[in-house]
Amino acid sequence: MFSDLKQRPADPILGLTVKFKADSNPDKIDLGPGIYKDETGHTPILACVKAAEQYRIDNETTKTYFNSAGSALFNEKITALNFGDHRVVRENRVRTISTPGGTGALRIAGELVKTCKPSGTIWVSDPTWANHQGVFTAAGLQVKTYPYYDHDNKCLDFAGMMETLKRVPKDDAVLIHACCHNPSGMDLNPQQWQQVAALARDIGFLPVIDMAYQGFGVGLEEDAYGPRLMADTVDEMILCSSCSKNFGLYRERIGACSVVGKSASAADIINSVLLPIVRVNYSMPPAHGAAIVETVLDSAELTAQWHHELALMRDRISGMRQLLLDKLVENGVTRDFSFITAQTGMFSFLGIDAAQVQRLQDEFSIYLVGSSRISIAAIAPDNVDYLARSIARIL
Ligand code: LMR
Repeated sequence: MFSDLKQRPADPILGLTVKFKADSNPDKIDLGPGIYKDETGHTPILACVKAAEQYRIDNETTKTYFNSAGSALFNEKITALNFGDHRVVRENRVRTISTPGGTGALRIAGELVKTCKPSGTIWVSDPTWANHQGVFTAAGLQVKTYPYYDHDNKCLDFAGMMETLKRVPKDDAVLIHACCHNPSGMDLNPQQWQQVAALARDIGFLPVIDMAYQGFGVGLEEDAYGPRLMADTVDEMILCSSCSKNFGLYRERIGACSVVGKSASAADIINSVLLPIVRVNYSMPPAHGAAIVETVLDSAELTAQWHHELALMRDRISGMRQLLLDKLVENGVTRDFSFITAQTGMFSFLGIDAAQVQRLQDEFSIYLVGSSRISIAAIAPDNVDYLARSIARIL
């Protein structure tokens, strides 16, 4: 059975961490995966999460099954976090299920589209998260791309994006990043969101919004502008969200897939199709991450603490953007890197070529994705000098 298998390359993001761990250089820096690190290079467990876990240990009375939708309280709370006090919620048009991380949400969303349209196509931004293509292909969809980032001018190619989206056939799906675009850090502004939403309504393509970084851009409410506007504009959409980054729950695997239907009864029908997709995949989602999130969001005190801790993470990252820029200049770099501070979220493209990315790895033990995406969240006052100096060298 297995003797004809050929070795496959390591995952372009997760594979970097394996190499990083094996590197003995004390100055090594892992700018690969989108993981928040504090100034000491540690990925902390948030205090609100620790408190919620303690609450769960003290109060949980059973480990019996949920169902394929997961915890009803989590689903209600995450819907409120993502959509706010939105009319689609008040009109009972949203059906949310908990999923194993944001990736699980995307896979289920992909399979729902595939179920509705067996020859379905989903359009993703060029560039996009390295796993989008694989997730949607595995769900049985064709994947096509629309222009998004202008590498030469280090900005959004909004004209190119709109030009392509205008030609997307009705009932194709279009994946849009809600905020903190991964990998470019360049987001749509409110006016651009309005144009994209109006196009989705006029053409009738299905928006599938990936919100993996709510709270890491400008703030929890501001970062949800796009999905909420979209829900105001179109009759049907899907929102996939993740608690990996904003609750720091990475390995607990907790996210959500919310589907908006035309009416409450249409949403019930969608839900009846969604649940069997989960059932044949993994039966039901894991409970621990959901229990933590719902405990935090159900307590005014823990929610306030979470907001504070999230703001600290967000502010530290944006501080590192400025510091990296300053250090590049200090180290004599004349190329314009000012785009780094115009972006939001964890990521930035350095805009260096593949050979230079490889040199950073081989000569300086600095690990970044081949596209030159760096995770700003791994930069700290202690390593920024070394990083800037190394970049200056390879330039
Ligand atoms: C990333 O883009 O680095 C993160 O979303 C981690 C992952 O799963 O790839």
